[in-house]
Amino acid sequence: MAKLGIPLGSLSLLLLFFFCCAQRSVGLQENYYATSCPRAEEIVKEQVYNLYQEHGNTAVSWIRLIFHDCIVQSCDASILLDSSGDVQTEKQSDRNFGMRNFKYVDTIKEAIEVECPGVVSCADIIVLAAKEAAAMLGGPRIAVKTGRRDSRKSSAAVVDKYIPLHNGSISSLLSAFASVGIDAEGAVALLGGHSVGRTHCVNLVERLYPEVDPNFDPDYAVYLKGRCPTPNPDPNEVLYARNDRVTPMKLDNNYFKNLIKDKGLLLVDQGLLSDSRTTPYVTQMAQDNNYFFAQFSRAFAILSENNPLTGGDGEIRNHCRFVNRP
Ligand code: HEM
Ligand SMILES: *[C@@H]1O[C@H](CO)[C@@H](O)[C@H](O)[C@H]1NC(C)=O
Repeated sequence: MAKLGIPLGSLSLLLLFFFCCAQRSVGLQENYYATSCPRAEEIVKEQVYNLYQEHGNTAVSWIRLIFHDCIVQSCDASILLDSSGDVQTEKQSDRNFGMRNFKYVDTIKEAIEVECPGVVSCADIIVLAAKEAAAMLGGPRIAVKTGRRDSRKSSAAVVDKYIPLHNGSISSLLSAFASVGIDAEGAVALLGGHSVGRTHCVNLVERLYPEVDPNFDPDYAVYLKGRCPTPNPDPNEVLYARNDRVTPMKLDNNYFKNLIKDKGLLLVDQGLLSDSRTTPYVTQMAQDNNYFFAQFSRAFAILSENNPLTGGDGEIRNHCRFVNRP
């Protein structure tokens, strides 16, 4: 100590600061609910597991949900609020088309509320559910922090600014991720989320009709036209194709192998193969699942820490669909 030349008095002040304030200024921390709700993370895990046993696609939904919550301004559960009166919430945005299983978020929240009412945020539930889902779908085990609070508002109008279009450019995709601190390598890895789940025909027909996109593997295009037989599918009809026909319920690097075989579904998926800023990562992730997992985990953690509400901001919602009554 003497060597450092710090007087003991100021050292203890420093220590006091770390104990009292450092965690608040950092905001999120590991196991934030350790004393307020010690089983919080365990309860989410149990619920995600039970739901996965009953409806496997819930796990897929949690992977998409963290992206759609966190990329739009903040990981604040704004995606979960229901519209009411003339307030159109994020759920109403076209960019959130196809999102499902919101009612099972309520199931998780209810299980938490039984044990610790009013303590665990919906924003943390989204992040914890997605982390468990990644592991259950065969993906990496990811360490995430907790301590987010829930927003008191949600607006459909802002979503387009944050969530890229399925047929947008790779530049717009990369800048959307860059704005939350995720580099091209991380962005490519996160798109690997499209190794699970489905895409409705409305998002595919542009690449199939009137002519098949020359960047499609011709046999694969024939298969997709079978799944999506008309150029103008009724959006209310449940016509879709699996994102990854080979291992549709496994979070793995088959997504990247598909891109190399010209079997990417969305324009942004296939576009990753031909842009010099992303090609090398696609190639390497196709070859090395561990590398994909490491980058997916790294980018997932950054995404999960985007601009959280902490301290006195926001609230802990009692019900994930509604703000608390004042
Ligand atoms: C440029 C970025 C992205 C775009 C444009 C995009 C677009 C889309 C579209 C259009 C669908 C199909 C929706 C439907 O027709 O039902 C979809 C599905 C999905 N997306 Fe993304 N996505 C992006 C990034 C991500 C990221 C980063 C993740 C997670 C890490 C993700 C996870 C998913 C999942 C899991 C599904 C399947 C959902 C289901 O089966 O219910 N996406 N995405
Ligand atoms: C992109 O997709 C949207 C919605 O699916 C569509 O309205 C638009 O025309 C497409 N844009 C291009 C450039 O193809």
